[in-house]
Amino acid sequence: MKLKDKVALITGGGRGIGKAVALDYAREGAKIAICSRTGAEIETAAKEIKALGTECLAVECDVSLEEPVSKLVEKVQERFGRIDVLINNAGVMIRPAPVAETEVKKWDYTMAVNLRGPFLVTKAVLPLMMRRKSGAIINVSSSIGRGAYANFAAYATSKWGIEGFTQTLAAEVGSYNIRVNSVEPGYVATKLTGYRGSTPESVTGVFVFLATDESGGITGRMLSSSGWKSELKK
Ligand SMILES: NC(=O)c1ccc[n+]([C@@H]2O[C@H](COP(=O)([O-])OP(=O)(O)OC[C@H]3O[C@@H](n4cnc5c(N)ncnc54)[C@H](OP(=O)(O)O)[C@@H]3O)[C@@H](O)[C@H]2O)c1
Repeated sequence: MKLKDKVALITGGGRGIGKAVALDYAREGAKIAICSRTGAEIETAAKEIKALGTECLAVECDVSLEEPVSKLVEKVQERFGRIDVLINNAGVMIRPAPVAETEVKKWDYTMAVNLRGPFLVTKAVLPLMMRRKSGAIINVSSSIGRGAYANFAAYATSKWGIEGFTQTLAAEVGSYNIRVNSVEPGYVATKLTGYRGSTPESVTGVFVFLATDESGGITGRMLSSSGWKSELKK
């Protein structure tokens, strides 16, 4: 029970990596809030989380929209009274294309979800964490946000952006005892990858580590979960 009674807000918790992390956090005793745009998925995830004996709040919310995000954070605050851990996990990847052929609206959509989303959710959550002088923020990045891959400009730019956001924010809120790190989860079998790669359940360990006091000195860092105990989906 490494996260007993901690409250975690996990965006994109209805499926894939976010859901696997939410279930693992629940097993470690955390109270969970999840959001995504698909109500049916977060409701199903919430049932599985509650079956593990903890509380779960599921809120339909598009993280790229300011007002719904404010309401989401208000609801979590009302229900649990605080947020100890924020995981900015919700993300999208458009079909790979060369820059010259990338549609402007798809570029904008990628930035809206992958960059504006984490900014909006973090901006809404920060005052709660700053008041308590405590918190852990984990941003989900990608190996594509740390290297050069042809035809992935929109996704790569959003993930390089999230690395910059992580390090800047870490420098800004360190004095409030708020730690901000990013995780590159490896290649994970989810809807985003056409269900190819490691199982989502096998990449959650680093997310638990970053939420506990065991990682107390770690902030502004880019961690990988791919080397932890990745298992290929059978
Ligand atoms: N799978 C990999 O190999 C891999 C590798 C590197 C990084 N990542 C990153 O890992 C994160 C999770 O991806 P995944 O692989 O688990 O993909 P996934 O199965 O497609 O899950 C993405 C989650 O984000 C939610 N989401 C997307 N847009 C949203 C929005 N505007 N507002 C709220 N929720 C939204 C989705 O729900 P709705 O669509 O219903 O909103 C879903 O719950 C992403 O940030 C992704 O970039 C994945």
